[in-house]
Amino acid sequence: MGTNPIPPPAARRSHKGLRVLVASAVGVVGAITALTVPAPAGAAASTLGAAAAQSGRYFGTAIASGRLGDSNYTTIANREFNMVTAENEMKIDATEPNRGQFNFSAGDRVYNWAVQNGKRVRGHTLAWHGQQPGWMQSLSGSSLRQAMIDHINGVVGHYKGKIYAWDVVNEAFADGNSGGRRSSNLQSTGNDWIEVAFRTARAADPAAKLCYNDYNIDNWTWAKTQGVYNMVRDFKQRGVPIDCVGLQSHFNSGSAYNSNYRTTISSFAALGVDVQITELDVQGASAQTYAAITNDCLAVPRCTGITVWGVRDQDSWRSGDTPLLFSGNNKKPAYDAVLNALNNATPNPTPTPTPTITPTPNPTPTPTPTPTPTPTPVPGACSATITTTNSWPGGFQSEVTVRAGSSAVNGWTVRWTWPSGQSISSLWSGQQSVSGSSVTVRNAAYNGSIPASGSTTFGFTANGSAATPTATCTSP
Ligand code: G3I
Repeated sequence: MGTNPIPPPAARRSHKGLRVLVASAVGVVGAITALTVPAPAGAAASTLGAAAAQSGRYFGTAIASGRLGDSNYTTIANREFNMVTAENEMKIDATEPNRGQFNFSAGDRVYNWAVQNGKRVRGHTLAWHGQQPGWMQSLSGSSLRQAMIDHINGVVGHYKGKIYAWDVVNEAFADGNSGGRRSSNLQSTGNDWIEVAFRTARAADPAAKLCYNDYNIDNWTWAKTQGVYNMVRDFKQRGVPIDCVGLQSHFNSGSAYNSNYRTTISSFAALGVDVQITELDVQGASAQTYAAITNDCLAVPRCTGITVWGVRDQDSWRSGDTPLLFSGNNKKPAYDAVLNALNNATPNPTPTPTPTITPTPNPTPTPTPTPTPTPTPVPGACSATITTTNSWPGGFQSEVTVRAGSSAVNGWTVRWTWPSGQSISSLWSGQQSVSGSSVTVRNAAYNGSIPASGSTTFGFTANGSAATPTATCTSP
């Protein structure tokens, strides 16, 4: 990607959108239904949320808890949007100001306002180099890795069953031509930090969609976009639990909207993930650009919703750019353009369940912190070794290496017995059945064939204290 444009300094400096499947919060089902019932055939919907719902999508905004006392703000926000992201209140510094001491007061204020008004909530964000509290900034290595895992368990656990989608990892890739990871304390804990974050989040709330979220990944020709695309493809191939990609889509002169945006959206979607536009704002709020962005999402069935990063220009982190859909109490031309585009959309024919993995054969094994001993190959047979890759109070994560002997294996079954009441909470790259303390894992559809002396892996998270029982492997 050597010819890819490097975002100009301004862009690099400036970090700076399904049918409603379930009402995620108990007690608000009636309200959600009322807000998302499509307009009658032929009738144009008069709000962004209702117009998006006609094609099975949502239209959301970022909400700042400090503005919930402003009735002009809440009137527009409540009327127009059916998805809410807390602008700052669910971030690391807000939710875990001191290590192990969680504070959900501001996050809950935004969450409660949303569900009491019949809206769903996107969770933002769990693992990020930005807005880390001081205690986390000063950590490194295994201590930081553990803190990240504990943080995800604490926050996702608090909101378990209540969040439509989590931005599990935010802004982990570098700007410029490298297409690689951003340097950060989290990156320094090892390249596998992102997949560990996703696996931890899946175990903590299996019902939430899990997204990777970033800025400057809107232009398909940019190296950063390709870097993230390659990571998502790799995750899907190896069974790392990822359900969606969030395109922040902060468009400005340094990082302008490009018509290849539709290619970016459709290319990510083709990997088997939903695409959500998560933080949309457009410097100057051109009506034409807002319409093009909306139509690009509407053109891809798995583009499931659009969130604008604030209600009115005055609420924006870039208020000077007047990048949003409202000015004061007034709808801007961009508002009308978006509403018209949404009203002209054809119904979205494809529901978007949490996707199944679309693997390729022979996945690359994940490097693990603990070396896996290599058993002596046994002719015509297989062996399995369980390794603990992470642990936290009350739980742990393991990887199991399944290795063929001197002959190729076509289908495998791994069995073990838990020594002291452990139980699997989430398992990937295999099919699990449990009988009491006995666990049986058969190969997934894509990783049953192992060449002679080759290997494959599956993984799981479990409750209880970390254990590495002896596993047996049989092949038909
Ligand atoms: O609340 C304090 C206030 O008490 C204090 O007086 C004031 C002094 O600076 O700061 C206020 O906190 C600010 C906070 O926003 C609330 O307004 C922080 O300084 C400021 O840094 C923070 O900025 C947020 C920024 O993330 C921080 O990274 C923006 O509101 C928020 O819109 C922005 O959102 C990010 C997404 O999370 C990720 N993608 C990029 C996007 C834009 O930067």
